[in-house]
Amino acid sequence: MKTNHNHDILVIGAGLSGLRVAIELTDRYDVAVLTKVHPLRSHSVAAQGGINASLSPEDSWESHAFDTVKGSDYLADQDVVELMAKGAPSAVIENEQWGTAFSRTEDGSIAQRPFGGAAYPRTCYAADRTGHNLLHTTFEQALRKGVKFYHEWFVTSLVKTEDRVCGVTALEIATGEIHGFTAKAVVLATGGFGRIYGHSTNALINTGDGAAIALRAGVPLKDMEFVQFHPTTLVPSSILITEGARGEGGYLFNSEGKRFMDKYAPKDMELAPRDIVARAIQTEINEGRGFGSNYVHLDLRHLGKEKIMERLPGIREISMFFAGVDPIDEPIPVRPGQHYSMGGIHCNKNGATLLDGLFTVGETACMSVHGANRLGGNSLLETLVFGRFVGQKVGEYAADAEDFDECTVDDAAFAMREKIQSILLRESGESHAELKEEMGRIMDNEVGVFREQETLESALKAIRFLKERYENIALPRCDTQFNYSLVRALELENLLHLAEVITMTALMRRESRGAHWRTDYGSRDDENFLKHSLVSMVEDFLKTEYIDVNLGMFEVKERKY
Ligand code: FUM
Repeated sequence: MKTNHNHDILVIGAGLSGLRVAIELTDRYDVAVLTKVHPLRSHSVAAQGGINASLSPEDSWESHAFDTVKGSDYLADQDVVELMAKGAPSAVIENEQWGTAFSRTEDGSIAQRPFGGAAYPRTCYAADRTGHNLLHTTFEQALRKGVKFYHEWFVTSLVKTEDRVCGVTALEIATGEIHGFTAKAVVLATGGFGRIYGHSTNALINTGDGAAIALRAGVPLKDMEFVQFHPTTLVPSSILITEGARGEGGYLFNSEGKRFMDKYAPKDMELAPRDIVARAIQTEINEGRGFGSNYVHLDLRHLGKEKIMERLPGIREISMFFAGVDPIDEPIPVRPGQHYSMGGIHCNKNGATLLDGLFTVGETACMSVHGANRLGGNSLLETLVFGRFVGQKVGEYAADAEDFDECTVDDAAFAMREKIQSILLRESGESHAELKEEMGRIMDNEVGVFREQETLESALKAIRFLKERYENIALPRCDTQFNYSLVRALELENLLHLAEVITMTALMRRESRGAHWRTDYGSRDDENFLKHSLVSMVEDFLKTEYIDVNLGMFEVKERKY
């Protein structure tokens, strides 16, 4: 069996970002996409509410950029935001022309709904299944272009020469064999790492594999303390209940029957940005005004059956199947839950990381386009705008990149086989599933919507202890074919590394900004913390530093809604 492969460019991950990069490059290069799951099961498929673009005549890219920067609590790099806001209309139109079935207005234009923190209804949608539509359309284009896929391959490490990435090692899940891949450039597009938390809207596959292998290869991660908690996740399953439900006019009520958002965001109410609405809901719950101790109500009844069926059919189904509630007749039980990772692999706006030849894009990356808090509808947008742009930049890089004198991919594959053998052959030890559950509980309880020194310290200690225990895990199965307990165990190693970085950076940021709220440092501190955090792994230690934010067209101000 052949276990080493060569391509010009490797794209790791087949969600919207990875697919869009591959589409951009396949005409000119031998591109291979390695993906842990079939592309149509990538988490982009789960995005509900929509994608932002300033399409209407009264809107503008400047207004979109301003809302994004203000929403980010001024931590976003303004040059990157400008690129995204300017690129938004053509990204949406391109996908429409590829076949995405956007919802329409009476006159046939793409329909746009209001979303949190936006001055205009700017969020284009396909009912409440926007990601599903975009992913199918984009995948079709990838097939049309003849993109080569390695389906159900789990990438286990980056391989580098002295100063350049030269490939990856990957587990072929069907056989359990480790393969080595060489390439001139590698693009990490593996999505987020929500599964560090117990309560998350993320698919089980969102385990931060790209960010973790980058960290282990010495590539810095940026702004990892900024974790987005979506205000409305279904109780008890934590499935996403789209912001589109509030965009269409849904109200939030506490157990006293009060529409409480007037206390927290008197102007924007339910359509304040996510960090503010999530904190408001959590405060109502913490102060005893929740239902059953841990949720509030999202009420859509006044929207009427027709609007619910037309604009929010998926939300109705999810509520009925997973909470036994039909939103036409009853309010939906919701609470905040982990949703998105603003942090990720440190890169510039071209997607280039500090390791030559290594690029990144989408939620895996931290281009600093979302800063401390992402606005709803900007995530799908980021995948398409930067998928295209980073694809172009990778193409320029690959055109000039020389072949390697030496690449140690065979040695790396050999070392990875030994590591995996040692896990498979261990006869008794800890259960990875139990360790994962413990990690989720710690992160939910101690590194959540509200944070403070004491609990962050205790979380950091507990996560480090879980890392030690991880060294003794044993698997229920030791065969190699489709051994998903092995995959889950390797994912857990990634999650634990990232959980440590999130907790450490949350502890170090002694201010409240965007989604990072410290009850012991309850205000923003621009003097000391208008900065990005960077964490890199040097030998086995985590080194932290801070770098400047790219300010620009918008003055840093107090944030009010
Ligand atoms: O609420 C939502 O539909 C999620 C959208 C997003 O994360 O951008």
